[in-house]
Amino acid sequence: MKIQKTMVIGSGIMGNGIAQVLAQAGYEVYLNDIKEEFIDRGLEKINKNLQRNVEKERMTAEEVETIKGRIHKSLSYEDAKDVQLVIEAATENRQIKLEIFKELDKITSEEAILATNTSSLSLTDIASVTNKPDKVVGMHFFNPVPVMKLVEIVTALQTSEETVKTVQEVIDAFNKTMIIAKDSPGFAVNRILVPMLNEAIFTLGEGVATKESIDTGMKLGAGHPMGPLELCDMIGLDTLLSVLTVLYEGFNDPKYRPAPLLKRMVEAGYYGQKSGKGFYDYK
Ligand code: CAA
Repeated sequence: MKIQKTMVIGSGIMGNGIAQVLAQAGYEVYLNDIKEEFIDRGLEKINKNLQRNVEKERMTAEEVETIKGRIHKSLSYEDAKDVQLVIEAATENRQIKLEIFKELDKITSEEAILATNTSSLSLTDIASVTNKPDKVVGMHFFNPVPVMKLVEIVTALQTSEETVKTVQEVIDAFNKTMIIAKDSPGFAVNRILVPMLNEAIFTLGEGVATKESIDTGMKLGAGHPMGPLELCDMIGLDTLLSVLTVLYEGFNDPKYRPAPLLKRMVEAGYYGQKSGKGFYDYK
């Protein structure tokens, strides 16, 4: 099956980045969300990213207009009836995702691939609410999506090889690299990355070092492109807590328990960049 038309569900940080890379790779994209103002915010971010490419002379203004012209606003899942690939990037909440997949299963064609950008939930669980579980796959992107070179493919127990092959062609068109991980809590990358970020929060919470020292330490001492606390703010502390909770409950292992400071910050609404305050201020 040749992928031409796609839909991205959710126009937040991940969804708008995914829509951008799909449109840049030549695919038509419906960018779907529950409110038009959310989509407009996502489109604004895409426009800003693309304009920077013009300023840096990596794209012409005409190319940018062509790419933007491939992205269409969608407020209804009905628009998915003629797409070959849906990538769901809605809130990281099991119940919400299961509802979305049940709906998509009714609307999309038999051949359409239903992908999710979940960063931790069980693919097998999500696939099982559809009548075409072999067409369900995880496409886990990394933030910022236009910049990060990896897509982690997560296979449910039911995912077919053909589905993985088709998705691989899309990732090739993005000029990104794919790795394959089995459906296990946190998959491969977050299983390693997220406990490290949690440990940075424990280190801060216990007063071992200041936030600046922790971030500088990991940048200069371990060669990370940004400090772990800066990265927590970029990922979103609410998202981080939900991934940690999935690891903690999925493995029943106390080594994944979320740092108390992380829980308190989420309770306070300090989610990081998206709320204007996290470990650092963004207002
Ligand atoms: N959106 C789009 N482009 C962005 C961006 C954003 N949010 N942030 C930075 N960029 C672009 C910059 O514009 C710049 O592009 P140009 O070369 O065209 O100028 C390029 O990225 C490099 O940026 P900077 O020079 O400002 O800074 P940098 O070299 O430090 O790179 C970074 C920024 C790419 C974010 C880098 O610090 C980095 O790789 N950080 C680690 C990111 C990471 O670990 N991401 C994974 C998070 S985990 C996840 O997403 C999965 C999950 O499930 C939780």
